[in-house]
Amino acid sequence: MIESKRQKLDEEERKITVIAHPNIALIKYWGKASEAEMIPLNDSISLAVNYFHAKTTLIARKVEKGEEIGDTVSINGKDVGLNSRFHRVFKSVRDKLDCQWSFTVSSSTNFPVAAGLASSAAGFAAIAFALGKTFDLPEHDIVRLARYGSGSASRSVLSGLVQWKKGNDKTESHVVSHFSADHWPELRLVIIVVKDEEKALSSKEGMERTAKTSELLQDRIRRNQERINLIISAFSSHDFPSLAELIMRDSNEMHAVCLDSYPPIQYLNATSWSIINFVHSFNKESVRAAYTFDAGPNACIFTLKEHVNELYDRVTSTFSKGKEVKDVYISELGQGPQIDN
Ligand code: DP6
Repeated sequence: MIESKRQKLDEEERKITVIAHPNIALIKYWGKASEAEMIPLNDSISLAVNYFHAKTTLIARKVEKGEEIGDTVSINGKDVGLNSRFHRVFKSVRDKLDCQWSFTVSSSTNFPVAAGLASSAAGFAAIAFALGKTFDLPEHDIVRLARYGSGSASRSVLSGLVQWKKGNDKTESHVVSHFSADHWPELRLVIIVVKDEEKALSSKEGMERTAKTSELLQDRIRRNQERINLIISAFSSHDFPSLAELIMRDSNEMHAVCLDSYPPIQYLNATSWSIINFVHSFNKESVRAAYTFDAGPNACIFTLKEHVNELYDRVTSTFSKGKEVKDVYISELGQGPQIDN
């Protein structure tokens, strides 16, 4: 055991490939108490979207004294300039290690990047998980590394129904999983890609503007703990109608605080609004679907296995693929990251 550990530590180069999923928040994170430490203003709670993933290979190389550290990241075959978030993640892991390492990351996704489909969540969760497994880091550190990349990424490090607790000070913020993915295996998500281009205003900038200018945000924050508890209890008892109403109200509220920001922020477009109205009419007899929108026009609709085919057929006959909407996917929920052998 000691021998094999030593062998591993003596290695000059380590390579790992992992898979991580984006997640979709049922109660959304919107606003930060600290950008430097990535501490949110409110708790959020989410489920991973199993169908979408980032597959990420990390090569860590020992750097000789005096040699320059040259980290690189490529996403879907394209080299990306390393922004401050990548630097923060890599610096933070290097600070924990005895000797210097440089990192080469290549990541590919099976969904459009930066279109409001939480690609940064999957991407940074994958990088953090790969770093964590390479250097035997505890879960707490993996979560922090993911969070340093993108706040919502911290929720993709665990499986099941995951709550990101904001914590009481600027360093205490962590995630917990309340239920494993198999607690409610019948839950499904229908994802409607309305637009697959990069959003005009990033979540970071949107959140900053909201935190600075929206008075409504305080009202939203006041309701946060109660809503989180109601989500956990609806999830616990498989109460879909209650869960659905909470999800839709939270999405509406997040977009309301965006509109209350100054200048106002509009992420939903006319098709998003048609989808909202479509879901409410789908729910006329009984509540069987719940829409939610992140910082973009794409819709995620929660439903149950028994309704998913009808929902998919009605979505694709109402919104024609390739015309009004780009694509429609169905996903199961709740899977955590894995090492890809
Ligand atoms: C609307 O995690 O992308 O999707 O922490 O600045 O990287 P940064 O923001 P990000 O914001 C996600 C916002 C959201 C809601 C959510 O996923 O909770």
